[in-house]
Amino acid sequence: MEQSGNNLRINGARLWDSLMEMARIGATEKGGVRRLALTDLDRESRDLFRRWCEAAGCTVTHDAMGNMFSRRPGRNNSLPPIVTGSHLDSQPTGGKFDGAYGVLAGLEVVRALNDAGLETEAPIEVAVWTNEEGSRFAPAMVGSGVHAGIFTLEQAHAITDIDGKTMGEELDRIGYRGEGCGGRNFGAYFEAHIEQGPILEAEKLPIGIVTGAQAQRWYEINVTGQESHAGPTPMAVRKDALVGASALVLAVNRIGHDFQPGACATVGMIESSPNSRNVIPGKVFLTVDLRHPDDARLADMDRALRKAATEIAETYDLIAEVEQIWSFAATHFDPDCIAAVRAGAEAAGLPHMNIVSGAGHDAVYMAQVAPTAMIFVPCEDGISHNEIENAAPDDIAAGCQVLLHAMLERAGGH
Ligand code: GLV
Ligand code: MN
Ligand code: MN
Repeated sequence: MEQSGNNLRINGARLWDSLMEMARIGATEKGGVRRLALTDLDRESRDLFRRWCEAAGCTVTHDAMGNMFSRRPGRNNSLPPIVTGSHLDSQPTGGKFDGAYGVLAGLEVVRALNDAGLETEAPIEVAVWTNEEGSRFAPAMVGSGVHAGIFTLEQAHAITDIDGKTMGEELDRIGYRGEGCGGRNFGAYFEAHIEQGPILEAEKLPIGIVTGAQAQRWYEINVTGQESHAGPTPMAVRKDALVGASALVLAVNRIGHDFQPGACATVGMIESSPNSRNVIPGKVFLTVDLRHPDDARLADMDRALRKAATEIAETYDLIAEVEQIWSFAATHFDPDCIAAVRAGAEAAGLPHMNIVSGAGHDAVYMAQVAPTAMIFVPCEDGISHNEIENAAPDDIAAGCQVLLHAMLERAGGH
């Protein structure tokens, strides 16, 4: 007998087991995951996802960006699908939940619908977006970005990693370059994710109803001075690029503090050249990540960064070239999708609050082309992008239960 959508339950233990099995691919000694985009490990995780989806009766396809779509047909397959998903790539020292949770929560929704013999009106799809993290190939959210028309396929395929390998070559190598990308109509897009911050845990709430995401800008800065011998070169005549870069790191941190509340400012990557202990560094490359929930405040942070770079270059007799390589404006999710998430939390009796995402997500780009919302669950001590990232099984299950409800409301037929 069919269950109705309202009393349908996801299987939390099955979801947890799948998460733990996926986390074995690229598992690190400290309990985390290292599964960089388009590596052999990424291929392994995709293959496992594909096997699980096919076992659940879905048809799995991938596009020219390697974005995967696992489709569970509906009663009316001419309707646009209701889509959920996230990513399977990780940070170099990432955790088990960032990305994988949203993908496997989608799979658990499919499995729960199968168990109940419930057919939805619209088809349901679970998406795996390529290179969400942006750590091997910058920027982040590239697969969903091409899908949403933010980047062209050609631009994305040409992005290189630190060894000069392109995304296009690596997609071919792992066998995940399909045909075409984007131009598809989604009825709605939902993404479940760990919060990656401390708010839900502090409030002791299992569910965050994500109303939007803060704006971001990414920069690459090249500081040029002059390489010279560390012994005979007097302090007064040096052009030490690393000294200038160090002043920039402090300036970026200062900007983060100056634009409170809400601002975040990070230098996450730095390469000093020639990186020899008795050579004054002649060149330094560093990255800057600026974020703020308010677009105008982020524009002020941008001006503060450029002013600091100019002043530091003057002070230390250097050249500092600042290039903004990526940005997105503050995102506001769809009111109806937000309401569907809230209704899901209420139907399941789960306490909740509204929250704005501090991180970028594929949902940010999906929001440009489809009605979109997200569901957050707490993570331990708010820590993420770290091997110790952790979440409670009950919270993981709760978020998936809310996802099921929201998707059923949009897909209809229960
Ligand atoms: C994505 O992980 C981000 O940097 O927000
Ligand atoms: Mn993520
Ligand atoms: Mn991440």
